[in-house]
Amino acid sequence: MSFIDIHCHILPGIDDGPGAVQDSVAMAKMAIDDGITHMFATPHILDGLYRNGTAVIKETCEKLKGSLPNGLQLLYGADVRICHNLLERIENEDIPTLNGSGYLLLEFPSLALPPRLEDLILELRQHKVIPIITHPERHLLLARRPALLRRLRECGAMSQITAQSITGGFGREIRNVSYALLRMGLVDFVASDGHDVRMRPPQLSEAFREVVSLFGEETAMRIFVRNQEEILDAVYSCSAR
Ligand SMILES: [Fe+2]
Repeated sequence: MSFIDIHCHILPGIDDGPGAVQDSVAMAKMAIDDGITHMFATPHILDGLYRNGTAVIKETCEKLKGSLPNGLQLLYGADVRICHNLLERIENEDIPTLNGSGYLLLEFPSLALPPRLEDLILELRQHKVIPIITHPERHLLLARRPALLRRLRECGAMSQITAQSITGGFGREIRNVSYALLRMGLVDFVASDGHDVRMRPPQLSEAFREVVSLFGEETAMRIFVRNQEEILDAVYSCSAR
């Protein structure tokens, strides 16, 4: 089984992921062993804490490629915290979508849900940006409001849960929320959100097997493989233009 990981903090030294290149290389080896063939390097963009932008992310990504073992194709992206001038910053190419595909990893503030989220999603979609809401199962408020997640998806957002949430790495409650979201059909992607090789590993295969056994092969293929392939298709069609 081969996987595309759309959310991983593998770039060294620019967020709370690996500190040095050899740590990134160890993560890459682990990912390859797990069957991951493509990985979007998605460091945090979080004002006041991680001031990353498209230029530094692309540059760090290109540098890391030279040190990676064969078997893992690295693409760029970012794990983007909602900010007030989000659309403007995307259009200025200060904030990257997933390798320029238009798909955007979008993270909500940890302890709050901003007002008028539906309007934000609609506005992004009108500008050809497809927001992917990251780990709703781990968000204190959103985890309790699946109806809101459903509305956001109806407005055109997609959602991504974390592999370790499914396998129990974040505890029983988050695992139960993940199962509930899967049961309700509110999950579009599973990604590793890897940060290191010990606590937050870049692995997907165990969660894939669990989803196959609990929710069936069809669901597993859609949220681990097919939706990710659509992003890759968008990447390649954008770069061919
Ligand atoms: Fe992340």
